[in-house]
Amino acid sequence: MSGRTKLCALIGDPVEHSLSPMMHNAAFKHLNLDFIYLAFRVEKHNLKAAIEGVRALKIHGLNVTKPLKVDVAALLDELDFSARNMGAVNTVLNQNGRLIGYNTDGVGALSAIQEAGVELEELKTVILGAGGASRAVAHSLANKVGELVILNRTISKAERLASELKKLYQSEVRYGGLDSQTVASELSDADLVINATSVGMKPNENASPINPELIRPDMVIFDLVYNPIETLLLRKAKEAGAKTISGLSMLLHQGAASFKIWTGVDAPLDVMRVALKKALGEYP
Ligand code: ATR
Repeated sequence: MSGRTKLCALIGDPVEHSLSPMMHNAAFKHLNLDFIYLAFRVEKHNLKAAIEGVRALKIHGLNVTKPLKVDVAALLDELDFSARNMGAVNTVLNQNGRLIGYNTDGVGALSAIQEAGVELEELKTVILGAGGASRAVAHSLANKVGELVILNRTISKAERLASELKKLYQSEVRYGGLDSQTVASELSDADLVINATSVGMKPNENASPINPELIRPDMVIFDLVYNPIETLLLRKAKEAGAKTISGLSMLLHQGAASFKIWTGVDAPLDVMRVALKKALGEYP
């Protein structure tokens, strides 16, 4: 570190278990960039003060996580297209004192899907969940897939998201509940199923958001949960012969997109992937 070292920081609450510091510091080190990444726990009531601090200290970049992604948008000077549409920010660049908000979650999901060699056009896509993660993915897929269906335990949230997407992208989006009957009927002809609920996340790794018997070999199953890397849903999908995409891939690609925004340099994906796996204890 030097007098010129640029600071990028994660703000949110909690942040202690975040894997982003390991991922970004490994990448900075690998490319010999004079950058460092730290995590700061910022409670909601301190967000305004924290952003003033970013301006005063000339902190170079931010990642923003729960529960600040929506509120931070109003405190910035400019929002890019994706952050504006989603109404949520996960990345900030301090460009000579102007704070610009981005959202790389959606593009991270798209890159993970592309990396798996999946062509989205004409796919019937079912997204399970209608929270923050679902919103990011749904916005990035709404005008790229053949048909989009959002299923959520709380139907009103799925309905709200579907109507917002219809307005923004003029695309047909259906919604429904997460009950077994609706799930079975929607999955019977689905091509891509994305789990954007928190079901299956440690310590509840023995849970699956859907009945695994509904998985067919011609389906693609994408689980946004990355801890464990192989969720029960992904394990069952592999056993059924389906193609799988892990949440780690989305975490990696959203991080890579943020890295590019802060540094202007392409992220070293392999270095970051290894750092993530090490952090999760799944790499020797
Ligand atoms: P994130 O930012 O990770 O998306 P979130 O915004 O809190 O987190 O959203 C969590 C999602 O997981 C929601 O869709 C939630 O469903 P509700 O809207 O009905 O709360 C879903 N979820 C969480 N626990 C669940 C469970 N046990 N069964 C089904 N859905 C669940």
